[in-house]
Parts: sequence; structure tokens; C-alpha cells
Amino acid sequence: MSSNTFGKLFAVTTFGESHGPAIGCVIDGCPPGIPIAPEDFTHDLARRATGRTRHTSQRREADEVEILSGVHEGRTTGTPIALLVRNTDARSKDYDAIARQFRPGHADYTYWQKYGIRDPRGGGRSSARETTMRVAAAVIAKKWLAGRGVVVRGHLAQIGEVLPHGFDARTVDWQAVESNPFFWPVTGQVPELEAYMDALRKSGDSVGARVRVVAEGVPPGWGEPVYGKLDAELASALMSINATKGVEIGAGFAAVAQKGTEHRDEITPDGFLGNHAGGILGGISTGQAIECGVAFKPTSSLRLPGRTVDLDGNPVEVVTTGRHDPCVGIRAVPICEAMVALVLIDQALRHRAQCGDVGPVHPRIPG
Ligand SMILES: Cc1cc2nc3c(=O)[nH]c(=O)nc-3n(C[C@H](O)[C@H](O)[C@H](O)COP(=O)(O)O)c2cc1C
Repeated sequence: MSSNTFGKLFAVTTFGESHGPAIGCVIDGCPPGIPIAPEDFTHDLARRATGRTRHTSQRREADEVEILSGVHEGRTTGTPIALLVRNTDARSKDYDAIARQFRPGHADYTYWQKYGIRDPRGGGRSSARETTMRVAAAVIAKKWLAGRGVVVRGHLAQIGEVLPHGFDARTVDWQAVESNPFFWPVTGQVPELEAYMDALRKSGDSVGARVRVVAEGVPPGWGEPVYGKLDAELASALMSINATKGVEIGAGFAAVAQKGTEHRDEITPDGFLGNHAGGILGGISTGQAIECGVAFKPTSSLRLPGRTVDLDGNPVEVVTTGRHDPCVGIRAVPICEAMVALVLIDQALRHRAQCGDVGPVHPRIPG
């Protein structure tokens, strides 16, 4: 009822707050036999982490994953996997000044209205610190998916008004994406982005961003009509990430202006002639790449003064100091990948449970 658990067969429950002693998760329903070691988490947690470049929050967490259960001699046992990450660099004093105020654009006011109490330190449970555990759980999901030829990767597709120049979304250079702090697909633009972010940080303001995630190798058949549609679960999962304001599958909102003849992705024996559907029809994967776009809003914690009210309802000026991301969308790339991977493993296991006996169906259109 309190919605801290995600997934049906690969069920991930996260716990913890931004400035508590630790955050963690329990994964129930993980297939047995997946090789997993603490160092497997390092790469993706570092991609999500703060303090690794000047363009993100300067909080420096160690982000070391402790495996407490569910893994024996380096392999998952099928029993609940508990993962723990200790918070090592919380500076709660930074939040003293706003403990009695509601930051506009943040979750302070709504948590207060819902629970009648809140942990203001670092945003408490509403902090994106929680997403560390989504990324950690997805490391295991990605491993299982990779064993079935499924690869989930993301990149930034827009920061503020800046778009990738000369970029073809069908031929992403994933090495380029991983070679710069912005997950940007066009490396020639990195100096432009650095200058943009430096000026933004100096101004004290923040900016939104768009993330694109592509899952390749997904076979046809994953997804459960009608209430567990693959696109519906992807939208829900991506929308559950902090600061998400929009999710698109395939052509997304551009479909509004398209004609049916343009949008329908005609079928030939050699393949589909387009992918406006984003790899999903009727809530079920087509075998093409699954394509999602996610819109992130600008960070709401700003050192530029703004109007709000305090706990007594009096109008006050709010100024947020401390360490914040000027563009949360940058660090959101691995989080979006994680949510897509978690949806896919869950749907794959559900497909296997119900339709595992169906076997290959003719004709199979190449993805
Ligand atoms: C990776 C990531 C980092 C974030 N960092 C910050 C931050 O430093 N400061 C902040 O005010 N909000 C940050 N946010 C956004 C808040 O967590 C979010 O706006 C807040 O919880 C309110 O929820 P909502 O925007 O989804 O409505 C971040 C979000 C993400 C995804």
C-alpha cells in the first residue's frame, strides 16, 4: 500500500533516506545462478554518483554495496537478496535553514500534507539518493537480460535548449556516450556543454533535460495486455523517477502530427520499415528496439531567492544552499536505464511463466 515495492516476479523494495545511516533494497524473486560480486555494482553506481564531475552535486558518497543475503559463492541463490549502501557524506546542517520552509518545486509541501511530519535532511525519502538502490538492483537485472541478448543503454538527448548536432538516433555511438560526463552522443559538443553548464552554475539557476533509453535484443512477446502493457509499465516506472515530467514511447507526442501512413511501421519479411511504435504494439514487444524518451524538470533547490511559506503559513523568502545538481537529467541516464531493465526482467519472467510453452511462432519478423 505504501508503494515502496516495484515489480511482480522480480520485486524490488527500497528503503532509506538521503541522510539516514544507510539506504538499501531487498530483491525477491531473482532467478538463481546469476554470478554477482560487490564490484559488479561499481560501474553503474559511479555513472549515477554525485561528485565525480563539477557538473553535478558535490556530495561525495562512497556508494559501496554490501551484499547481505541471497548470494552464495558469488551466485544468486533464488532467496531474497538484500543490498545495503551506507550514507557516508551527508551534511544535514545545510538543511537547517529550510527545515521550516517548503521549497517551491520540491516535495516538501506534499510530504507535509500527506504525513503531517517530514525528514527535511536532504529531502529525506523524496531525495534521488533512493535511486541508488534502483540502479544497484538493475545491475543484477541487466546481467540476466544480457545473458538473453538484451542490452539497455541510455544517453542524454537534450540539455535545456541544446540538442545534439548532426545526430542520427538510429546509429548511436555508445562509446562516445560513455566517454563524457554528460552521456552526450556527440563528443564534439562537449566543450559547448561544459561552457553552458559552467555559466548555468554561476548564475545559480538550473535547467531541464531529456534522456533517451534504447533496449536492444528484446524478443517479440514481452508485455501483458491489458493492464500490464509493456509501454504502460515503462511509463509508470520512468515516471516514478524523481523530477520526471514526461515519458514518450517511440514517436511519442510527435505521433500527434503524423499521418497513419507515416506512423504505421510497415512490415516486410525482412523487417519493419520504421519504429515509430518504439518496439511495442498492443502492449507487447515487437522484437524491435524499445525506445523511450524521458523529460526531466529543472532542479528546484536554488540559491536564487524565491517566494514560499513557512510551517506557520507565513510568506517567506527561501534560499537553498548546500550541494545540488544544476541539471538532474544528467545523472538520471543510468537511473532511466535501470527502470527499463527492471521492467524488462519482470515482464520477461512473467512471459516465461505464462507462455513458456508456446515456443517460436512463424513468421518471425527480424527486429
Ligand atoms: C538524479 C537526480 C538528482 C536530483 N538531485 C536533486 C538536487 O540536487 N536538488 C533538488 O532539489 N532536487 C534534485 N532532484 C529532484 C528531486 O528529487 C525531486 O524534484 C523532488 O523529489 C520532487 O519530486 P518531483 O520533482 O518528482 O515532483 C534530483 C532528481 C534526480 C533524478
